[in-house]
Amino acid sequence: MQCVSVTSQNIDEFLDKYDVMACSMRNSRIKAKHIAIMEVLCCTYPLKSIFILNGPLSNIRGFISFFVPKECVNVLPQYLKNLGYCDKFYILDFDNPHHTGNSSIKNINLNWKRRKFSIRLFYEQSRRVYRKQSPHNRHFKIMGWDSEIRDVYGYRGDGTERGRRALPVEDARCLVNMALPSRIKTMVDPFAGGGGIVYQAKYIDKSIEVFSVDIDETLEPGLTYYGSKHYVDNSAIIDLDAHVFDALITEVPFTLDALDDICNTLINFDKYLSSCARIVIMLSRGQFCAIEKCVTELNWHILMSCAVNRKGTDVVIMVCTKSNKLYKQMKEIIEAVKTIR
Ligand SMILES: C[S@@+](CC[C@H](N)C(=O)[O-])C[C@H]1O[C@@H](n2cnc3c(N)ncnc32)[C@H](O)[C@@H]1O
Repeated sequence: MQCVSVTSQNIDEFLDKYDVMACSMRNSRIKAKHIAIMEVLCCTYPLKSIFILNGPLSNIRGFISFFVPKECVNVLPQYLKNLGYCDKFYILDFDNPHHTGNSSIKNINLNWKRRKFSIRLFYEQSRRVYRKQSPHNRHFKIMGWDSEIRDVYGYRGDGTERGRRALPVEDARCLVNMALPSRIKTMVDPFAGGGGIVYQAKYIDKSIEVFSVDIDETLEPGLTYYGSKHYVDNSAIIDLDAHVFDALITEVPFTLDALDDICNTLINFDKYLSSCARIVIMLSRGQFCAIEKCVTELNWHILMSCAVNRKGTDVVIMVCTKSNKLYKQMKEIIEAVKTIR
């Protein structure tokens, strides 16, 4: 993964090989810029996109820009549809700076490092797909008290603090993308709930083998329906035999009294994670110190931990890896991204 600073001296070299893509962040996550940048880099990793530290349009709130190799632009939409924190994408046209374009971005100086450009809306995510996938519409199956399986739409949990289940589409996609889906064959969600992460992992790449665990048996039919190999069990003690996962991606129960179970789950799953595994956890702010301590004792490297400013509980996304090599490779880019305001 790479980032660059562009000057009026080196801009032409880049524009020969790359198109410039400006991504507009979803309003609901507009404050989580560092995560959005890393998510785009992780999601488009196979295309070798490059984050532009001093990108054009960076003066507009919620815009981040990337170089994408010209030969990859036609396959971009199949990656962009999977993003959580950005939902609209523009290509900058430096060859036709006077085109009126089809974007709604107006009244700004379309000039970058002494090169004029016009803007074209390149791709916009489908609102219909987003609505269909969102927790309050999504089709799910639950086991009734009479052991009958029921079809439900908009399942949001049993109403208790520990049993709340409704991870928004943008967060579920973002968590999966942060685990580099193009590099993982198997993943596990040990607190799977209503399956937001399981569902998005399968949406992003059907071929990822998805495993899940939840202590609540009600959820088994729905998680299996989403394509997961599911276990009803306590993740803190479950014995998964010879399984090895390339990623653990989860939203933990946010209450403080769940901390023991969460830490024991991470300790238990350590042996089931491959040596280059990535671990992506959404946790509540109040849980941060305890989980950070646990992860450090496991000798996992914390690649990044960022607060997400959103409605409801204050949360943090923590990305870790077991691999020292990966940590060293990623450290530089993460430090550079952190300097972005
Ligand atoms: C925050 S919810 C997960 C929501 C999920 N991400 C979604 O999109 O619906 C946490 C889940 O962890 C489960 N859970 C709590 N303690 C557990 C444990 N020790 N082992 C396994 N699952 C547990 C709860 O039943 C709940 O479904």
